[in-house]
Amino acid sequence: MTMLTDEIKQALIDQALLYQKRAYAPYSNYAVGAAVLADDMQIYGGANIENSAYPSGLCAERVAIFHAISEANKKILAVVVATKNGGSPCGSCRQVMREFGAPDMPIILVDEEGDIVLESTLEGMLPYSFGPEDLI
Ligand code: THU
Repeated sequence: MTMLTDEIKQALIDQALLYQKRAYAPYSNYAVGAAVLADDMQIYGGANIENSAYPSGLCAERVAIFHAISEANKKILAVVVATKNGGSPCGSCRQVMREFGAPDMPIILVDEEGDIVLESTLEGMLPYSFGPEDLI
């Protein structure tokens, strides 16, 4: 697994908690914050952003990843997700992580206190996945 220093891990957790507070989730009342470490070694955050036309909203993980990629990064190195209960990323977010992350990329879930609920990897959370190489 890609090794994260304690300092970077804590910075990712702090950023995920910050973005959780920025969630726009008036319909579900389920606030999610995400932070990704990108290949420029910067941290990019995202919050879930809902919409009155429900399917038009987007999960925090994808907001954070698209934030990182639209700042010209090509890879993500780690993902932290913060929710009130350590909730797990949905399948669509796992697939987007798969596009930009290596199989051993750490995925860390924390609760709203910032306590770690689960530490896994991309491959652990999305085994037998489909990715860019399958199209070659
Ligand atoms: N949500 C996320 O932001 N990430 C996930 O992986 C699971 C679900 C959001 C979507 C919606 O705004 C709310 O949580 C309830 O589903």
